[in-house]
Amino acid sequence: MTLTWTPLTPKIGAELQINAAELLDGSHAEEIRALLVQRGVVIARGIGFDDEQQRSFTRTLGELRLGRAKGPDDSGLLKVSMDRRVNPDYAEYFAGTFFWHIDGTYETIPPFATVLSPRVLPPEGGQTEFANTYAAYEDLPADEQRYLETLQAVHTMQATMFPAVPDAGLEDFKVWMDYPQPTYPLVWQHKSGRKSLVMSTSASHVVGLHPVDSHALLTRLMAHATSDDYVYRHRWQLGDLLIWDNTGTMHRARPYDPDCDRVLHRFTLKGEEPISPVAV
Ligand code: OGA
Ligand code: MN
Repeated sequence: MTLTWTPLTPKIGAELQINAAELLDGSHAEEIRALLVQRGVVIARGIGFDDEQQRSFTRTLGELRLGRAKGPDDSGLLKVSMDRRVNPDYAEYFAGTFFWHIDGTYETIPPFATVLSPRVLPPEGGQTEFANTYAAYEDLPADEQRYLETLQAVHTMQATMFPAVPDAGLEDFKVWMDYPQPTYPLVWQHKSGRKSLVMSTSASHVVGLHPVDSHALLTRLMAHATSDDYVYRHRWQLGDLLIWDNTGTMHRARPYDPDCDRVLHRFTLKGEEPISPVAV
């Protein structure tokens, strides 16, 4: 049977008409992967997986990313929650998730995709938004595309975290500065040949530009890439399953009352290609 889906917005997102058993048996895995890269975000409602099922489903799509110092436990499960009782060691890192980002820009090969499902939801707010960075690149004028293809940006943990923790002290900065500070092209030419903007709050500055020009360029590109046309806002319901292509989208959490619980369970797929510049 072929996969049935409908667009969530014209430029991003697909909703599957599928049940839990069909997701788990892997028979649509190739089609779901292809749809993910084409649409950036794929959702299914009313699935209600437990952790084991969510893990099994994730593994139909690729290789699971396992334990890291700050991140998933050995099973690959990461609980997305700012509650210290849920995440004693790294709850504070989720403060950065309220700003547009790509996950793992401090890794050599950023994760390919993530499978997210809510376990506890706040009564209001706490949606997750996704922006399609393929479409944002493709809609730019050709001369601007060519110019951006010549540029690189440095990505840092300080750039990621400082907007979220404006009263950060020296100790915070010391921790953040221990992370790698990789330089990536502003435009990623994927193995598929498709190109996307490599935009994220982690982008600290553009190599070789005056800081004023660098700031102006990154701010303008961020505003463009996150304008309404490219964004899908997911309003969570218990039972949802959501997958995003971390290589061709940015995402962010929307605010919610910090006194309310919000726990999402996630499994992540290993990256499959480095961020490569456009071949000249
Ligand atoms: C993440 C993330 C957003 C959210 O899991 O990487 O950024 O809405 N989550 O919790
Ligand atoms: Mn994230």
